[in-house]
Amino acid sequence: MNNIDTLRADTPGVRNRIHLNNAGAALPPWSVTDTILQHLRLESEIGGYEAADAATEAMAGFYASVARLINAQPRNIAFTASATDAYARALSAIPLRKGDVILTTENDYVSNQLAFLSLQERMGIQLVRVRDTAEGGLDPEDMERLIRTMNPALVAVTHVPTSSGLVQPVEAVGRLCREYGCWYLVDACQSAGQIPLDVEAIGCDFLTATMRKYLRGPRGAGFLYASDRVLDAGLNLLYPDLVGSTWTAPDTFLPNVDATRFEYWERPVALMLGSKAAVDYALEVGMDWIHTRSHQLAAHTRELLANLPGVRVLDLGAERCAIVTAHAGHWRPKPLLEHLWANRINCRAGGLTVAQMDFPKKGVDWVLRVSPHYYNTNAEIEQAVAAIAAFKQE
Ligand SMILES: Cc1ncc(COP(=O)(O)O)c(C=O)c1O
Repeated sequence: MNNIDTLRADTPGVRNRIHLNNAGAALPPWSVTDTILQHLRLESEIGGYEAADAATEAMAGFYASVARLINAQPRNIAFTASATDAYARALSAIPLRKGDVILTTENDYVSNQLAFLSLQERMGIQLVRVRDTAEGGLDPEDMERLIRTMNPALVAVTHVPTSSGLVQPVEAVGRLCREYGCWYLVDACQSAGQIPLDVEAIGCDFLTATMRKYLRGPRGAGFLYASDRVLDAGLNLLYPDLVGSTWTAPDTFLPNVDATRFEYWERPVALMLGSKAAVDYALEVGMDWIHTRSHQLAAHTRELLANLPGVRVLDLGAERCAIVTAHAGHWRPKPLLEHLWANRINCRAGGLTVAQMDFPKKGVDWVLRVSPHYYNTNAEIEQAVAAIAAFKQE
């Protein structure tokens, strides 16, 4: 059983503010910050390449820790600069041709949608989106129908959207992808560190995530999981570099056997080590416990917000997570966020350009996003909701 006071003592930021922007970037535990600073100091003292040589073993631990987090093997993990970077690397590896179908959802992350639209414009890819159910979230029956009739080259699902408490049924989709044999890419950017992840159970070929959100790692770091199916099929970056592939003769090259084929030579070693510290911390706290507690805090937030006059809580779906979204006609995003900031409360707003299909269906053009993590407390949530209630539009 975890002790909240101990977890909060590990988290210097909780002394300054009520941080309810974990879906943006969570507060890191001191072990993450210290690990990063220690390596940066070593680089300044002995040289960047020499410091990396000294950290070879510790860097190997990055792959082992991330693999443990998602029930994979270290050979299936690559370090990336962000979730979007991981996503672009995966997309560049999938052999797409003119006319191929990418099947995605109405709630997939904005940058993923932009990548698909760009592929559509440049390469003649056909972008198809599965219908949502009335309850919210993708309709598995429609997904099955579309996979069966359209034979997509790629199925792409964002596990947890950026501006909604929805959790998509990624395992059910994975079973369909395995049955029909299509490549399956899961964006786990918001679920990593919030919800236990098991790539075997999900059945995905690629999974992408960032470190700074619910994993509580540093900014500028992420990871890509590539399944053995991907590795065995020889999928590789469109633009490999000398660390992921070997130039074997003037006109030939060989990708690495493992997922490091998706990496580039220049890596922020300090951030890799800090990321490992963050993943180890999450594993020590325990993903099941983190899942339960962060979702309880979110449920409390939803209940309190829903009781405020004029406020609508907007999260849909059979399963809801630690992201809470709400809207009220008398709110305006900038003054509301400034009012919260003045009360030492961190929240965020998301506009229409991050949810072009979800928000119009909900009848809103922006939402307030409140995203607690396990180190928050009920008292903090109550203080934040009281501050939201006290907000008066000038
Ligand atoms: C669901 C989802 N996917 C991907 C991303 C992109 O992550 P990054 O900024 O690390 O590229 C985000 C960021 O908010 C996100 O919420």
